[in-house]
Amino acid sequence: MDQLELDRDMQIELGLEPVRYFENAMHRHWNPAEIDLSKDPERILGMVDDYGVDALDRLKGGLRAFQIGEEAVTDDLAPLAMGIPQIEDQMFITTHLYEEAKHTYHFDRYWREVIHEVEDELGIERTYPTDFEYATDEYMENYAELFERTEAAVEKCATDQSPETVAKAICHYHLVIEGIAAQSGYFAMHSLYGDNDAVPEMPYLPGLTEGFDNIRADEGRHVGYGMYKLKKYVSEEEVEPALIQDTVMELVELVKGIVAPEDNQYEHLPGLDQEVVEEYATEKHMERMQQIVDAGEDIPGIEELTNVEVAGD
Ligand SMILES: [Fe+2]
Ligand SMILES: [Fe+2]
Repeated sequence: MDQLELDRDMQIELGLEPVRYFENAMHRHWNPAEIDLSKDPERILGMVDDYGVDALDRLKGGLRAFQIGEEAVTDDLAPLAMGIPQIEDQMFITTHLYEEAKHTYHFDRYWREVIHEVEDELGIERTYPTDFEYATDEYMENYAELFERTEAAVEKCATDQSPETVAKAICHYHLVIEGIAAQSGYFAMHSLYGDNDAVPEMPYLPGLTEGFDNIRADEGRHVGYGMYKLKKYVSEEEVEPALIQDTVMELVELVKGIVAPEDNQYEHLPGLDQEVVEEYATEKHMERMQQIVDAGEDIPGIEELTNVEVAGD
């Protein structure tokens, strides 16, 4: 560009959703390295005493799914950002990308400092988040398929920035992975290990929960942003509502195989009913779809988007 051309007096249009989300991200800034993880190992050891090493494997399975997922979404966001040229959006996307990196950092640190300490204490061999031998085939197939399809959908945005291509990528990334899969997973993890009575037999893990609460608030903004973009495409008639509905419907079955697999290998442990998680996932999906495609419905405000729910709420 030879000459910088500005078509307005100020650089930023205050009040636009991406700017409001950006401001909220600055206001709610948190540092994963400052979370106190020191109480978690002892409580996990107590859980293993009561319910055996299977209870530890279940916790690791949950952590691993998030860990790999957070890494994948950090990696996938850059091509998607290329499809969105406005400055206000780019400001928000920088916080989005930074936050995904923080989430990856939190889970990596949790494994190093908590899981490895527990394994050492128990005298068992250390495991790593990249080992997937505990997961069932059904789970793995659905998980891999969902992330592969998302990667392909967002990669397309690097060369094709048409509204349909960007909208499809947002459906995969924000609506399905972050909005339905991750939030249902966080809901289940929070119900198991949060400071609540949803599953009273499972310990409250304060370090894990503090990280989850911050991550869920961040994710609420990310999902809100995705919904805002899709609603804008639909209301400006750049994208048909059916494109959004069809794209999400195709992926929802994969999500069910992840958040509520039929072959639940931990049925013997105290936990949430698979149906409760499945219901939560379905409810989230229906609600969001309506808020996007129905002109009379609004996207929830920031407070609601960043609110943390548990089973029984
Ligand atoms: Fe994340
Ligand atoms: Fe996210």
